[in-house]
Amino acid sequence: MSRDVSFLEGKTALVTGASGDIGFGLCQRLISYGIQLVITGRNPEILEKRAEDLRAAGGKVLTYVGNLESEAFMDRLINYTIDNYESLDILINSAGLAHKSPIEDVTPELFDTIMKVNVRAPFFLAQKALPYLRLSDTATVINMCSVVAHRSYVDQSAFTVSMHALLGASKALANEIHKNGDNIRVHVITPGAVNTDLIQMVRPDLDPKDLIHVEDVADVMSFYLEHRHSAFITDEIRMHRLDKTPFI
Ligand SMILES: NC(=O)c1ccc[n+]([C@@H]2O[C@H](COP(=O)([O-])OP(=O)(O)OC[C@H]3O[C@@H](n4cnc5c(N)ncnc54)[C@H](OP(=O)(O)O)[C@@H]3O)[C@@H](O)[C@H]2O)c1
Repeated sequence: MSRDVSFLEGKTALVTGASGDIGFGLCQRLISYGIQLVITGRNPEILEKRAEDLRAAGGKVLTYVGNLESEAFMDRLINYTIDNYESLDILINSAGLAHKSPIEDVTPELFDTIMKVNVRAPFFLAQKALPYLRLSDTATVINMCSVVAHRSYVDQSAFTVSMHALLGASKALANEIHKNGDNIRVHVITPGAVNTDLIQMVRPDLDPKDLIHVEDVADVMSFYLEHRHSAFITDEIRMHRLDKTPFI
């Protein structure tokens, strides 16, 4: 049975972390629905290369370079999206920072940077996007979180704190939206190790063949987007590697 997903065509998505492996994979899937994109990251060359690849695949894609640690940049990013597309239907928060260091080596600066990118940015971007999302019939916020939101891994302390906080921020947003009766959906994806550069850095011990694929994460995003008109909502989908113990 093929589902009618034509309602997604021409919608506008803002994707952070689009120069990263997961963010880019999500963008590839988004353009396959005919969704127009604003993509963002700090490195102009990498971001433009990602945009060129997406345009070559038929995507309508604009880039906006900047640092999500800056609140002024977040304002400009939202304004840029509205100025160019006059709409914002889908916010995907996929920018994120991880680290691999014992707790003694986590400096206040590193801790603050991780919290700013992984928690503060998605929190305030969603806040700033709300007035525009309220105008949309497909309003969706998807936060790229991590299984670490439910446990902790050694040498990932600040990352662990940030993912617990991002899950909390997602719950808080979803509950306020629900209370207000806004037609905005908030979803979280909590994957384990995905085959990306980031995971090579924090878990070089893992065999790439055992890792989750970026396309698997995109499949979860598709599930959220395509089930827009069903009479249920899925708040969070946890994804773990096949070789991990289930349900923990
Ligand atoms: N990879 C995994 O196994 C895995 C598993 C679970 C959860 N996650 C989560 O999924 C998300 C994406 O992961 P990934 O593997 O795609 O990571 P990645 O390849 O390292 O990409 C990270 C992205 O975040 C952007 N970014 C970092 N700091 C930024 C800042 N200050 N301002 C603006 N953009 C910034 C990077 O762009 P620039 O560097 O160009 O700024 C890049 O686009 C992260 O939140 C991560 O925690 C990943």
